[in-house]
Amino acid sequence: MRILFISSEVAPFAKTGGLGDVSAALPKALAAEGHDVRVVVPYYRRIREAEHPVELVVPPLDVRMGRRILRFSTLRTTLPGTNVSVYFIECNQLYDRPAIYSGDGDEHVRFAFLGLAALRVAQQLGFAPDIVHCNDWQSGLVPVTLRTVFAWDRLFSNTRTVLTIHNIGHQGTFAADVLADVGLEQAAEQLHQEELRAGRLSFMLTGILHANAITTVSPTYAREIQQPEHGVGLDAYLRGRRDVLFGILNGIDDDVWSPRNDALLPATYSADDLAGKETCKRALLDMTRLPYRRGVPVFGIVSRLAWQKGFDLFFEVLPALLRQADVQLVVLGSGEKRYADLFTQLSKVAPRNVAYVNTFSEPLAHLIEAGSDMFLMPSRYEPCGLNQMYSLAYGTPPIVHKTGGLADTVRQFDARNGRGNGFSFEHFDVRGLKWAIGYALECWRDRGAWRRLQHNGMREDWSWRRRVREYAELYRKLAP
Ligand code: ADP
Ligand code: GLC
Repeated sequence: MRILFISSEVAPFAKTGGLGDVSAALPKALAAEGHDVRVVVPYYRRIREAEHPVELVVPPLDVRMGRRILRFSTLRTTLPGTNVSVYFIECNQLYDRPAIYSGDGDEHVRFAFLGLAALRVAQQLGFAPDIVHCNDWQSGLVPVTLRTVFAWDRLFSNTRTVLTIHNIGHQGTFAADVLADVGLEQAAEQLHQEELRAGRLSFMLTGILHANAITTVSPTYAREIQQPEHGVGLDAYLRGRRDVLFGILNGIDDDVWSPRNDALLPATYSADDLAGKETCKRALLDMTRLPYRRGVPVFGIVSRLAWQKGFDLFFEVLPALLRQADVQLVVLGSGEKRYADLFTQLSKVAPRNVAYVNTFSEPLAHLIEAGSDMFLMPSRYEPCGLNQMYSLAYGTPPIVHKTGGLADTVRQFDARNGRGNGFSFEHFDVRGLKWAIGYALECWRDRGAWRRLQHNGMREDWSWRRRVREYAELYRKLAP
């Protein structure tokens, strides 16, 4: 099938979180199954500055969107190690900015334009997609745009749309008067009338109402977002579309994330020979200037520092843990100041036990996955989560809150029968997290049990190869 895949992030070119990884790995896996997948993403400043080799495939084109005429060119490259085309939308007026998500007053224009330009690129290339696969609110307007603005074009007469919700917490909700800016004034009657009257236009809701099918990134999250507690105001709309709403668990790209062949590690290893893992641990501690002490467990964290990730529990749990047990902690992450301040504070109070690196670093992320003994991920909610799967694959049992994709991937370890692959607490509170960490430390002391636990995670297949067929089947079901 021909698939046009539109996303605001694609690794390794532009990534702030899991969306970037998925937008590279899923197209790659679909292509490996024989599908013709084309990925479209903005040409952000950081991509230009990294000087990835590109070729110009569509020369500058003036496109009207509302009152604006925007000029863009299309540059092409391929996903590393594949021949999957990635088309960059070069429009410096919109994308030549310091950050991927700008927070500027024209954020709606930046991403409405991404969708519009992607469809124009398809036209220019004569690429008639069977599926336009949209991701998160940033491409939420595409289904209705296709149905209205592009309705005349027979190129799209067999095109069906899929919207994947990676995180319902971000909905792209703007004042209703942006309708003119995004070129949808004429399509106003297709939009949610009550919302418009209330003065709002939500990109995510528009996508939910107009896409032919909706997916989200784990079966549990698919159920959760239909409930008020996790639906962030959209649960009723999702219940209304439950016949076409599917939860498909993400996979991981084991060309990039596998301890057997990870090019970013000082040593590789496997479930049968874990020696390299200890080398990675030494390298990690060395790099973060913590003393290596045999047998002392290292906890790792790699994360956006956001409310979603559940770090509010750490204010009480981590100081107590550091007082009561001989452990080390390595944290990589940036974002909200209060969490950054907590980790900075802990590293000052316990400089031999805690290291905090406040930046975005792909190599350090890999080294933490490999060099830590356990991975902390107490998310309040987690649509899927990739880091716990990376941890499982790297023999670094995760400690998680049982929610969303964490509930679908991490099974509580039981030292008595050796079953399970990690540690998982049910109730999001200090007691729950303390209990899970306490039990993990108890298991850590039983080397045989620990080895078994590591093996359980490492031996499972977390790759996209297992999951990709669910997308392919869905695409096929939608075909006219
Ligand atoms: P989310 O998408 O909600 O951030 P995921 O677990 O799905 O959560 O994916 C997070 C991805 O972002 C992982 O690949 C992780 O390694 C990466 N990541 C997050 N913060 C950083 C950071 N500071 N440096 C490097 N990689 C990071
Ligand atoms: C979002 C979610 C995360 C998920 C990722 C990729 O950022 O927060 O749970 O793994 O998207 O789908």
